[in-house]
Amino acid sequence: MFVRRIAVIGAGYVGLTTGTCLASLGHRVVCADVNAAKIERLSRGKVDILEPGLAELVSGNVSAGRLSFVVGAAAAVTDAEVVFLCVPTPMGESGAADLAAVEAVIAEVRELLPAGCVVVNKSTVPVGTAAWVARLLGRDDVAVVSNPEFLREGSAVPDFLNPDRIVVGSDAQYAAERVAALYAKLGAPTVLTDAASAEMVKYAANCFLAMKLSYVNALAELSERLGANVLDVTEGIGYDRRIGQSFLSPGPGWGGSCLPKDTRALLQVSRVVDFDFPLLRATIDTNERQRERMVEKVAHAVGRPLAGARICALGLTFKAGTDDLRDSPALAVAGLLRDAGAELTAYDPGVPAAVPGLTDGITVVDDPYRAAKDASALVVLTEWPEFRALDWAQLADAVQQRVVVDTRNVLDFDVLRRVGFQVTGLGR
Ligand code: NAD
Ligand code: UGA
Repeated sequence: MFVRRIAVIGAGYVGLTTGTCLASLGHRVVCADVNAAKIERLSRGKVDILEPGLAELVSGNVSAGRLSFVVGAAAAVTDAEVVFLCVPTPMGESGAADLAAVEAVIAEVRELLPAGCVVVNKSTVPVGTAAWVARLLGRDDVAVVSNPEFLREGSAVPDFLNPDRIVVGSDAQYAAERVAALYAKLGAPTVLTDAASAEMVKYAANCFLAMKLSYVNALAELSERLGANVLDVTEGIGYDRRIGQSFLSPGPGWGGSCLPKDTRALLQVSRVVDFDFPLLRATIDTNERQRERMVEKVAHAVGRPLAGARICALGLTFKAGTDDLRDSPALAVAGLLRDAGAELTAYDPGVPAAVPGLTDGITVVDDPYRAAKDASALVVLTEWPEFRALDWAQLADAVQQRVVVDTRNVLDFDVLRRVGFQVTGLGR
């Protein structure tokens, strides 16, 4: 295998996973970040994010001399053959992706990149960004490649090391081939294409997943109205290999740091090229509506005005297995309940204490039984499997009213009913 000298700019979920896993594949990797405190902690093997297996891999690769950390992109690139950009591309005011961090990195490194080096966009960026980056660089001796990332938070390492596919796009074929070769050991199907198509693949994938979820959430509502059970419905359609079993669980809406921003970004670029995309608009609208519907469900189950009612939220993160609260539907629903006047107490295994600016007005405790004390309803908002294993008899004693709304269908309803709870699921 060809060992490459790689620089990874941005040591967050994607950058740290990419750098660490490429080091595990044998490459020499330097990860850079503007956050000096983060770099200092990483250099000591301390990983801030909840990603199973990542801290061990970081330590192992640092000890083996394949992985190191520096502050600032400039310090990482001077010796690099391949430079991965893994910086944030958050939603800008118009809904389009904000490329300020990409622009800042290019300005910082453009004159420092060695001749013959390849710059790789791994951040999620709109179609046309590779060409834009090439113009910003203004270097004939540096090629630009798009290599979107498909990992999920909470399973970043296994997703990276066992990918469904690798997508690499460039208008310079040798550069695309060099990037694809970095992953050769993984033996994954590889799509080699032009830069614009690779950039489009990323949005196409995330928007398709969002569409699938909005469809399922709509089916859940329809199932409730028609007296069907959405869990049987999704099982029934999921056996069809053209549909597949995954991404069919209804919930309080889809969220996280990517699906919401990427759906809006694709809608925004569609507008720019005068393409009407009602399917995508409906996907987003259905998701907004889903959050409000959860509040109506809780109000109905509680059976009294929400104002002044004590509600216990089980779960705040955008999905189980992560501590990430960015654009979390669970947090959004808790916030809507709080805005309706309910007194909110929350427990989430990934969020042990209040997070200023995010959980304001919600009392966050680190014990589910304390969170449930005197509640008029327990509302499951994130699908943490440990909620199913709670001592429901103890919870029945703690609450004021034995009402549960399970927006993720994770609980064993029979167990709850045996200890006197009135349980409402989603779509059943
Ligand atoms: P993140 O916020 O976790 O990490 C980004 C890192 O970049 C931060 O540590 C930040 O300090 C650093 N940074 C910002 N500006 C910098 C600069 N000028 N120089 C050096 N470092 C800088 O973000 P993330 O979740 O890793 O996402 C990064 C990109 O990857 C986004 O475009 C996102 O859409 C995409 N993506 C994310 C995921 C995911 O699951 N989180 C999956 C696929 C793709
Ligand atoms: C998502 C994609 O799955 C990744 O492939 C992609 O790389 C990533 O976005 C990205 O571009 O950042 P992630 O944000 O980690 O990954 O979260 P998902 O596992 O996709 O979940 C997204 C949301 O959908 C969560 O709120 C989750 O609870 C919800 N969801 C997911 C459901 O409600 N039901 C399901 O069946 C699956």
